[in-house]
Amino acid sequence: MTASHVLAVAALTATVLGLPPLHQPFKKPQLWLSRAQSGIGPLKFQSDGTFQICIFEDLHFGENAWDNWGPRQDIHSVKVIEKILDVEPRAGLVVLNGDLITGENTFLENSTHYIDQMVSPMVQRGLTWASAYGNHDSDYNISTSHILAREKQWPNSRTEKMVSDPDAGVSNYYLPVYAADCTSEAECEPKLLLWFFDSRGGFHYQRTDPATGNRVGKPNWVDSRVVDWFKRTNADLVAAAGKVIPSLGFVHIPTNASLALQNKGVDPYRQPGINDDRPLAQQAQGWCADGTNDGSCSYGGQDVPFMQAITSTPGFMALFSGHDHGNTWCYKWNDQLPGMSVEGNGVNLCFGQHSGYGGYGSWIRGARQVVASLQSLQDFVVDTYIRLESGESVGAVTLNATYGQDLYPKTPNDKTRCPDC
Ligand SMILES: *[C@@H]1O[C@H](CO)[C@@H](O)[C@H](O)[C@H]1NC(C)=O
Ligand SMILES: *[C@@H]1O[C@H](CO)[C@@H](O)[C@H](O)[C@H]1NC(C)=O
Ligand SMILES: *[C@@H]1O[C@H](CO)[C@@H](O)[C@H](O)[C@H]1NC(C)=O
Ligand SMILES: *[C@@H]1O[C@H](CO)[C@@H](O)[C@H](O)[C@H]1NC(C)=O
Repeated sequence: MTASHVLAVAALTATVLGLPPLHQPFKKPQLWLSRAQSGIGPLKFQSDGTFQICIFEDLHFGENAWDNWGPRQDIHSVKVIEKILDVEPRAGLVVLNGDLITGENTFLENSTHYIDQMVSPMVQRGLTWASAYGNHDSDYNISTSHILAREKQWPNSRTEKMVSDPDAGVSNYYLPVYAADCTSEAECEPKLLLWFFDSRGGFHYQRTDPATGNRVGKPNWVDSRVVDWFKRTNADLVAAAGKVIPSLGFVHIPTNASLALQNKGVDPYRQPGINDDRPLAQQAQGWCADGTNDGSCSYGGQDVPFMQAITSTPGFMALFSGHDHGNTWCYKWNDQLPGMSVEGNGVNLCFGQHSGYGGYGSWIRGARQVVASLQSLQDFVVDTYIRLESGESVGAVTLNATYGQDLYPKTPNDKTRCPDC
């Protein structure tokens, strides 16, 4: 489709929707333009029409710097990243899907320095990355704003903060991916949108409760102001493109829908993956509906607006989470589940694989790969599998209309231990 065809479609759609017709080529929000101008250039599909994302989650760098085992874990986590990137040379973007650092173990003066060690495999390979922060990335001695600043010392970081409200979290932004032959992004419409959401959690930076002296907890769900920004921005992008743009999302903490799906039952042949964290920990866990978190409530329901948004955004294919290190499955949410006010629309909810030697559990380390192609995106379909540190690939599935009915091989559940930690 040529640019003028796109514009014709855009103008037609705008007329049908009663919107003003577009007289200009695809118009990007200013924020993205300023990023593109800073040097790293936009993300693009390969010339064969594919785009691959490699997701590392729960790396948990910086544990017990005062013991031998903590720094050794980090050395092994770097090796996991190197090994997987060497086996996956086609990865066009690395995603760091939360809990980059175990903040409660870090020192105020150097808490974000672990970023340099973590990103060295990407820097050496000339790859770029994008983060969605997790609950352990916020604590008394570390803040996600400082992590972002540390990331930004490397031009390879694509992490942004697009929602300015100080309480709405930091890693809320989107990245457009263009066709390989796009020469001027101002004139190409994105072929794929990648949305990053900050599910927050953890503790406020350098703040204690005056009465108890305890750290002060942060809400652990995607803020409703972020949900509003997502809906508004997506609508603007769709209006500018004149058509639905396929999209994927990344968030550290899964939503309550993942728990409801887990309760319905994870079938090892239909949702292949490890399912050891039962019940899984979801957004708004430990909070009450009135916004208190004194330990008296198990779940406050504050993730409902986010669940509504992801199930009502046309073209939103899948949401990828971490947080529950012992879960690695993908589930198609396509029905009304018991107790849930939000009904699934077929969106796929996926975990990745615990990637770091830090953090709980000894499930074999790995990284979920997501492969989109311009061909499959016409049907809003992506392929995904997990690349393990052993080099093996497991859990390969196609997130298409029959995902959840199709039969796949069962995923092994191997354990690995750090040899010298
Ligand atoms: C941070 O400082 C602590 C205490 O001096 C030290 O043990 C640790 O190795 C340092 N970490 C980094 C990443 O520099
Ligand atoms: C925060 O960092 C300071 C300075 O390095 C250190 O003394 C303190 O133990 C750390 N506090 C916490 C809660 O980790
Ligand atoms: C959350 O999921 C649980 C478990 O399936 C369900 O009982 C509960 O009603 C759900 N709540 C909301 C607000 O989605
Ligand atoms: C979905 O993908 C699976 C695996 O490739 C395939 O067997 C199935 O037929 C596909 N379903 C549709 C509707 O294309």
